[in-house]
Amino acid sequence: MKEIVPAPPPVVRNDVAAVQKLFQQHVVPSYGRFDLVLSHGSGSYVSDVTGRRYLDLGGGIAVSALGHAHPAITEALIEQSRKLIHTSNFYFHEPQGRLAQALCGLLGPGKCFFCNSGGEANEGLFKLARKFGHEEGRFEVITTTNSFHGRTLAGIAATGQEKVKKGFEPMVSGFRQVPYNDLDAVKEAISPATAAVLIECIQGEGGVSPARPEYLLRLRRLCDEKRILLLMDGVQDGHFRTGRFQAFQRILEPQSGAEITAAHNSKSNGASGAPDFLPDGLSMAKSLGGGFPMGAFWVRGPYADLLGPGTHGSTYGGSPLACAVALKILEVIQRERLADNARGMGEYLKTGLTRLAQTYPRVFRGARGLGLMLGLELAPDIPNLPEDPSRTQAVRFARLLHAAGVLTIPASGQVLRLLPPLNLRHSEAEEGLATLEAVAAKLAA
Ligand SMILES: Cc1ncc(COP(=O)(O)O)c(C=O)c1O
Repeated sequence: MKEIVPAPPPVVRNDVAAVQKLFQQHVVPSYGRFDLVLSHGSGSYVSDVTGRRYLDLGGGIAVSALGHAHPAITEALIEQSRKLIHTSNFYFHEPQGRLAQALCGLLGPGKCFFCNSGGEANEGLFKLARKFGHEEGRFEVITTTNSFHGRTLAGIAATGQEKVKKGFEPMVSGFRQVPYNDLDAVKEAISPATAAVLIECIQGEGGVSPARPEYLLRLRRLCDEKRILLLMDGVQDGHFRTGRFQAFQRILEPQSGAEITAAHNSKSNGASGAPDFLPDGLSMAKSLGGGFPMGAFWVRGPYADLLGPGTHGSTYGGSPLACAVALKILEVIQRERLADNARGMGEYLKTGLTRLAQTYPRVFRGARGLGLMLGLELAPDIPNLPEDPSRTQAVRFARLLHAAGVLTIPASGQVLRLLPPLNLRHSEAEEGLATLEAVAAKLAA
């Protein structure tokens, strides 16, 4: 990869207080922000306005697939913006058609719809489910506890976390949550009104919890038996983050072990776990646009024309500019074999995190996840962690890591997420582990 180092700002000013004041006065305070004021980045590093540089292992919550300021993204933006930035979806254009072709090629026979975010992509799936069940009066979508599906009204109704719903009741009707990785709970929840089941194959915000292979296989069979759509939210765990295009493809790889064989053997339709398995719909966003706001959903062939003309839309969805960027990202991922890199760097990091958990049991409980979607679970009541009753341990630990020069993403109070760029280098992974170890050693001392 060509190295580019962005020129530093002509005068490095410490504008932290001034920028924060602008936010306090003029920006809706809906986020709990860290103190950092970021200004520019390059690859896996990002700098703040004081000139401090951080190793960005959070990747903007799994968005910056190619890291910061990747020259291929810049070039795609410039080149396409000279030709055509936007057209209404009343017209055809080549980048959208080519991107849909590429995504269907990676997933399976079907069609794509383009939008601008993960929440919007999931809204599309909810509408697909309602359209699918409409004639039979079926509208309900079963989701799982600890899931996260976005901040729209339907998104929070689908999400299995009370904290996102609080204050926004009554919830949009037609969603119910059941425990994750529990097939019997899904079976029990199915009613004559059920139209779909929606899961994340790795729960992200919920703390990086992967689905078990046999859960996915049996869920597929259950949905077939009950004529229910199996929908997946691939917003965070998708786009090669696990080492395969989508997390279900990675989870269902044959080497996932005997569990798959057992589940496979018990399937009456004989479909083998990995090659033939497909959901009926899947949402995407985040790494799809690498930082350019973009979302999409894919619908499997038999249901691909359910949303006919006039039923769904999005002014900016699939603009020539967004699609040109997404196509370029796919090209770089494939050319530079970044899926393999995500798998290899992920293994390396996970092994290192597991070792840290063994060495510092009072600080870390263990590591989980696949590829470059990793969760480091913190031990309860870590000694010497700065007190702040209004903040979770994960947030307080992330602050310590900031001071040591590393960005991570807290999840579910007790987990730190690592969602770095897919082109993370070995030396960067090493640096991240060394920083985590230095912080843990100080706490445990
Ligand atoms: C699994 C999942 N679904 C949906 C969303 C919502 O995506 P967006 O913030 O782009 O609307 C997120 C965001 O973190 C997510 O992790």
